[in-house]
Amino acid sequence: KTISLIGAPTDVGASVRGAGMGPDALRVAGLMDALRAHRLEVVDRGNLSGPPNPWLPPHGGLRHLEEVVAWNWAVYTAVDLALSEGQVPLLMGGDHCLAIGSISAVARHCRATGKQLRVVWLDAHTDVNTETISPSGNLHGMPVSCLLGHGPKKLVGWSGEPAAITPEQIDFIGIRSVDADEKQAIRQLGLQVFDMRHIDEHGMRTTMSEVLQDVHEDTHLHVSFDLDCLDPADAPGVGTGVRGGPTYREMQLCMEMIADTGRMASLDVVEINPALDVRNRTAELAVEFIQSLFGASTLAR
Ligand code: ARG
Ligand code: MN
Ligand code: MN
Ligand code: MN
Repeated sequence: KTISLIGAPTDVGASVRGAGMGPDALRVAGLMDALRAHRLEVVDRGNLSGPPNPWLPPHGGLRHLEEVVAWNWAVYTAVDLALSEGQVPLLMGGDHCLAIGSISAVARHCRATGKQLRVVWLDAHTDVNTETISPSGNLHGMPVSCLLGHGPKKLVGWSGEPAAITPEQIDFIGIRSVDADEKQAIRQLGLQVFDMRHIDEHGMRTTMSEVLQDVHEDTHLHVSFDLDCLDPADAPGVGTGVRGGPTYREMQLCMEMIADTGRMASLDVVEINPALDVRNRTAELAVEFIQSLFGASTLAR
């Protein structure tokens, strides 16, 4: 299968400027060649276009709603096209609000093809705020709610159903920052959150076995990888870093176990902020993990 690189250079959903440079940071870090080195076919579809970041305060609990809608619509269309051509879309963000368009397109595709969608959300945050509970109004803290059918009307229902996914279809890994009202939302929705304490106590191996146990032949596995899942010591180029993330080794194992399922069929790589990075270290690290997600391993050819 061909991997289709889709750049979405925007930070309209974020609290800090800079994530819009993420797609080029990944290209400069050699993403294309790194994947080709593992005999994968890759095409770079270039960057999508959309409105600039107006940098305005929130309006009705939401910052930049119109711009977020426009960017996500572009993402939705591009991911939908890649999937319909039988490719594996790799969305290069951009901030994490773009998962709304990406996963909505994936959900629609799964419904059309009879696949079971499963989402693995790798993040320091659960991103399950809404306009009523978000402390910031930033839409990159709300994509999961939108996908579950609880966001602003304009961002909900794109998959063709009121909700793109149900709570049972998504698992969160690496979580260590949840806002006060988000905690209640997680409980009410019954979301499966494997927080850092869970990883500390059970280890990444057991955690990922739990997450992946019900992945089978008919599963379409979507990975939404927010680089702030990593420890900021390893990945300084993120806008909302939180200390205490998984180690490099733990994260590699996580990626390898996902690859071993053979079911990953779409991927978001978001929140890389080159303006805050150190010599493109975070994008280079992302490239390493992406290689592992696509099956690169130390000993296998
Ligand atoms: N929970 C905070 C908020 O809602 C931070 C969200 C960070 N999200 C992200 N995708 N980096 O503003
Ligand atoms: Mn995050
Ligand atoms: Mn589960
Ligand atoms: Mn996120």
